[in-house]
Amino acid sequence: MKFFIDTANLAQIKEAQDLGVLDGVTTNPSLMAKEGIVGKDNVLAHYKAICDIVDGDVSAEVISTDVDGMLKEAEELCKIDPKIVIKVPIIANGIKAIKKLTSKGIRTNCTLIFSSGQALLAAKAGATYVSPFLGRLDDVSTDGLNLIEEIRIIFDNYGYQTEILAASVRGPMHIINCAKIGADVVTAPLNAITALLNHPLTDKGLAQFLEDSKKFNV
Ligand code: G3P
Repeated sequence: MKFFIDTANLAQIKEAQDLGVLDGVTTNPSLMAKEGIVGKDNVLAHYKAICDIVDGDVSAEVISTDVDGMLKEAEELCKIDPKIVIKVPIIANGIKAIKKLTSKGIRTNCTLIFSSGQALLAAKAGATYVSPFLGRLDDVSTDGLNLIEEIRIIFDNYGYQTEILAASVRGPMHIINCAKIGADVVTAPLNAITALLNHPLTDKGLAQFLEDSKKFNV
């Protein structure tokens, strides 16, 4: 399973990259705004800064909702770096844009997926990734993991190459459960990724090993 980090924070991206397990980055307009990135030139420069840190894919989201606008934005974003993947919302114009971008060999991430039908349409249009939002479904008392399971079954039934990129991940159990289901990618905040490291028995065991090592390390 690939690990992406879901942030536009450069320090956190660097920390995840330095950990050695990072396969890519996802961003969205809210995450960019959270970092105080405003104005088109600054946004493009920030994507470049992210691409310079990571080795893998970097999802950059369009803000247009018409096909021509999405294609124009995609063209500009693709010029930044070959790592850029164009993130497009699952609306009718988004599907049209994904189809056109795919035919030009441009990779896409279809976002704001809340149903398996939306994921199926995105896969048919040729999306590289679909991003089902787990946490936001859980927030409205709907089983987000069940959506990942449905999409996995549908994609496997027909051999769709579109990768399931589990998004809106809130903690380590989301990551573990996505891995059990067979999500291709999980994008998560840094704290959810590093939480996978933690276990009190590891801390206790390490403390004991270090204490015992003093007996022979003299
Ligand atoms: O990048 C999209 C998604 O991961 C957003 O997550 O926490 O805002 O629901 P969240």
